Amino acid sequence: MKAAIVHDFDAPPRYGDFADPIAAADETLVQVRAAALSQLVRAQAAGKHYSSSKTVSWVPGVDGVGHLPDGRRVYFAFPRSPYGAMAQTTVVQRRYCVALPDGLDDVRAAALGNPGMSSWAALTHRAHFQPGENVLINGATGVSGRLAVQIARYLGAGKVLATGRNAQSVEGLKALGADVLIPLDVPAGYLAETFRHAIREHRVNVILDYLWGPSAESLIHAVSVHGAGEAEPRIRFVQIGSISGQSIAFPAAALRSSGLEMMGSGLGSVSNLDLLGSIASLLKAAATGALSIETETAPLAEVAAVWQGAAVGRLVLTM
Ligand SMILES: NC(=O)c1ccc[n+]([C@@H]2O[C@H](COP(=O)([O-])OP(=O)(O)OC[C@H]3O[C@@H](n4cnc5c(N)ncnc54)[C@H](OP(=O)(O)O)[C@@H]3O)[C@@H](O)[C@H]2O)c1
Repeated sequence: MKAAIVHDFDAPPRYGDFADPIAAADETLVQVRAAALSQLVRAQAAGKHYSSSKTVSWVPGVDGVGHLPDGRRVYFAFPRSPYGAMAQTTVVQRRYCVALPDGLDDVRAAALGNPGMSSWAALTHRAHFQPGENVLINGATGVSGRLAVQIARYLGAGKVLATGRNAQSVEGLKALGADVLIPLDVPAGYLAETFRHAIREHRVNVILDYLWGPSAESLIHAVSVHGAGEAEPRIRFVQIGSISGQSIAFPAAALRSSGLEMMGSGLGSVSNLDLLGSIASLLKAAATGALSIETETAPLAEVAAVWQGAAVGRLVLTM
């Protein structure tokens, strides 16, 4: 079969021939129609994600849309290595396939799965978010963050606060449902004060963090207070992405002096089945028109040329 193949962690995968997969008893083959190029897929193929393979000669792609041998159209995830989603055929456990609702085309469904899951699973499985609670999304201008704004709204958030480094992109989040916009390109001390004020005024219950790095430090600094005699309100901080830094300085007093509860969401902190359940729910929501995403497509054969991703939105390879 034809597939994208990782030959070298320092170069984009190349289009070529790869052995056909054979399904075990609990597995199924999938004739792939569309597979998205997410940050996770790119980081795995560069050997830079905690879930990356340590060797080369495998097919990238963690999820996609395709047809089962009986013709049903499904969203699938977690192909068995060395097989991945970026191939004409892949192999997955049957339990990792979910039927696709009508009204959602292959490309949109493939594009939505991973970035939509990042906030849906974080809110429902990690933060145990309740309708009416207020959510701050740190780093909301990417594909995942833009969906997080919409998903928080869809799940019943009272207020949605959104941050980003690019003022024009941040402004665009209003149309997606953000109530409060916080630009990040300001001095750190000023940012922490802005966060402190916004978190208090809007009674933030949950923070979804796509950035880590300096802005996460400012957020943690902002919730640290100095014992007014009452317990500070709970704030569940869910770490989702670390696009602006892998490590931060974290003062112990921030935890002792606040209602901060730190957790993460992703592969390993949420089970594969719960991640898939989140995706099934968000795809249903998307089929009603509730979630928007911009996409670009390219044929699988062009994988090496388009590996840097879409100019706008999510790149989806089609087979
Ligand atoms: N844990 C999970 O379940 C999960 C799932 C999906 C994604 N993620 C992670 O979430 C992160 C975002 O993914 P994505 O799909 O949204 O990627 P994306 O569509 O490529 O967007 C990345 C965004 O990050 C912004 N950015 C880059 N560097 C920044 C910095 N130093 N400060 C502030 N903003 C910065 C960019 O902002 P500009 O618009 O200003 O360029 C861009 O909008 C990635 O780290 C990804 O691995 C985690």
